[in-house]
Amino acid sequence: MLFHPYPNAFGLDIGDLSIKIVQLENKTGHKNTPSFHLKTVRQISLPPGLIVNGEIQEPEKIRKYIQHLLQGKKESKPIEGKWVVATLPEIHSFIKVIHLTKESKDVIDDDILLQAKQHIPFDEESYYLDWQMLPEIDPGTTRILIGAAPKYIVDMYTYLIESLGLGILSLEIEALAIARSLITSSKLYEGEARAILDVGATQSSLIMYDHETIQFSKTLPFSGELLTTAIMQSLKVSQEEAEKLKKTYGVTYTKKYGKALGVIKESLDMFIETIEQSFQFYYSHFPHTNTVTHVTMSGGATNTLHLAELLTERLGVTCAPGKVWKNLGSKPGNIPSETASLGLATAIGLALRAAENPFHAHDMI
Ligand SMILES: Nc1ncnc2c1ncn2[C@@H]1O[C@H](COP(=O)(O)OP(=O)(O)OP(=O)(O)O)[C@@H](O)[C@H]1O
Ligand SMILES: [Mg+2]
Repeated sequence: MLFHPYPNAFGLDIGDLSIKIVQLENKTGHKNTPSFHLKTVRQISLPPGLIVNGEIQEPEKIRKYIQHLLQGKKESKPIEGKWVVATLPEIHSFIKVIHLTKESKDVIDDDILLQAKQHIPFDEESYYLDWQMLPEIDPGTTRILIGAAPKYIVDMYTYLIESLGLGILSLEIEALAIARSLITSSKLYEGEARAILDVGATQSSLIMYDHETIQFSKTLPFSGELLTTAIMQSLKVSQEEAEKLKKTYGVTYTKKYGKALGVIKESLDMFIETIEQSFQFYYSHFPHTNTVTHVTMSGGATNTLHLAELLTERLGVTCAPGKVWKNLGSKPGNIPSETASLGLATAIGLALRAAENPFHAHDMI
């Protein structure tokens, strides 16, 4: 790209237990085949309690962590960019396709506001709403992708980021960022729906993707921390020891650790049940649904031994880790391994948006 109005813009993924930065350089030339080069990837773990369920409890400390990450270690240089695309916590955001029985040219803002109100689970007047019209499938029906987040959450993150002297290009719903890195940008998924399952440290999220758009996303009660805590409590071991056991045994059940794994089995059963319910919800509440043919997984806890196989067996659909760097194009530079990068899906999706010329890019995927 010859000119970018926000040079060195980067993606910033702030989670309860980690902060991640990915910065890409847009090398897309005149041929318009998207090409991005990895400039920077950095992450840092956060101690529990600074951000709880997406709510910033200790802004001063979080600011220090981000400053530290921006500054870099001795051998690395400080990040130059002043512009960021950051994410809103998944648990406090809402995304869904709604359908209006009107031609798109007849749809007015009030139609969307009224219909959106019936879906959005936040108190009226207390959320920000954004939307995007989608290409028509049914004549006479307009599809609109709506995104919403509570004002107090958006304001909390805006204040935090701006107080670091950074400018916000966009605060994105996490599902959009994840889908941007995991849905192959050059491919048409005709006649099949996909699900994306991000299994993180504190939560999982399921994203239904069909007809070239996210249909909805759902936060699920399963995570890497949940597994660690289950092992800690039932075996009375330290967190460090539990983390080690988790990485060694994953979701396999051995006699020796039967007690801990009983607890894990319970959470896994609930996890699988909620995924199945979400699929059924999609098939029964949305028009023209295609069948989910593949579940693409991301998030660090996707590395849990035998998790993908277990999900494949129980859900009856292939579940496999995705390739988070694939949309960078054929010359991505020196990227870390795909397995080690699963937890970067969100940050990469944000970085792709940051490196696009925002005057050309859609706000939503
Ligand atoms: N080999 C492994 N086996 C099992 N768990 C693993 C492995 N590697 C990483 N994890 C787990 O992955 C989790 C971190 O994943 P990730 O980086 O996606 O989380 P996060 O983005 O910080 O969390 P969230 O998205 O929930 O805010 C931790 O719970 C960690 O224990
Ligand atoms: Mg995450």
